[in-house]
Amino acid sequence: AVNLKGRSFLTLMDFTPGEIRYLLDLGHDLKRKKRAGIYDPMLKGKNVVLLFDKTSTRTRCAFEVACHDEGAHVTFLDSGSSQIGKKESLEDSAKVLGRFFDGIEYRGYEQQVVEDLAKYSGIPVWNGLTDVDHPTQILADMMTMEEHLSKPLHKCKVVFCGDIRNNMSYAWMYGCAKMGMHFVAYGPSELTLDPEILAKAKAVADETGGIIEISSTPDCLKGADVLYTDVWASMGEEAQIPDKVKILTPYKVTMEMIQETENPDVLFLHCLPAFHDFETKMAREWKEKGYDIREVTDEVFRSRHSVVFDEAENRLHSIKAIIAATI
Ligand code: CP
Ligand code: NVA
Repeated sequence: AVNLKGRSFLTLMDFTPGEIRYLLDLGHDLKRKKRAGIYDPMLKGKNVVLLFDKTSTRTRCAFEVACHDEGAHVTFLDSGSSQIGKKESLEDSAKVLGRFFDGIEYRGYEQQVVEDLAKYSGIPVWNGLTDVDHPTQILADMMTMEEHLSKPLHKCKVVFCGDIRNNMSYAWMYGCAKMGMHFVAYGPSELTLDPEILAKAKAVADETGGIIEISSTPDCLKGADVLYTDVWASMGEEAQIPDKVKILTPYKVTMEMIQETENPDVLFLHCLPAFHDFETKMAREWKEKGYDIREVTDEVFRSRHSVVFDEAENRLHSIKAIIAATI
């Protein structure tokens, strides 16, 4: 039997396929329970702290609502409102938080920070996004695939289009490797992937029967079960937008790309937030400067292929599963 009590959730690479399967099943169960209106809090008397050095809508709200649903209390700290890293070292802050709380969520820059928090706090730490990983998102994405596809994960092909060396692409590479899936990073050859991350994912894929590929040509779209994309400039990388628009425009997800999969039921997934029109301040400001930063067309985003809001909802159920399993 799987027992994850006391474990941190820093990357999917730390978990066996069986443990990931357990978290997905728990996520589906908790979703059914919530839909049925069953209230049976598992985390009464527990306290959780949420540390955000980058902004968030889904991840923060998922952690907060998950805790509220399960009877736990939440403290939220953003980068401006604590001593962490400014007047107090990460080590000392982690030791203090470990005395107050039962779990820590962290979103920020270096992966090393989640690792150090886990090392010094002595309590479960959950990675809410770093520069190189976003493991909670992958659980929600896999849940969404299981809801909409009639085949098991290990028979699925996921093509990640666009900024193939960002945190989502790497997180998917790990997820596909672990679950024996076929992953293609479809993007420009100028974006070379971190060789260490690639090697780690490939080594796992060799054991699970997964495939990890990189491609710059559209023939890789054929047979895809999922087209996935993400913004072209991640949080903190906005200065790269002019260069990114230049190299990534051919990888914008369009209806032509959907057709090139030759799969009439291909799914479109996106972690969100997404630029699919010019309704946001950021997309408008870049448009005025001559840059179209949309990584997907509005037509695809609103098409029957798109399951992005089911995916967003599943952040709640999957994050609840992670908290409940590890505290
Ligand atoms: N997908 C995701 O992590 O969204 P937020 O940035 O809103 O948390
Ligand atoms: N790659 C994006 C994901 C946001 C959920 C970012 O890091 O900004």
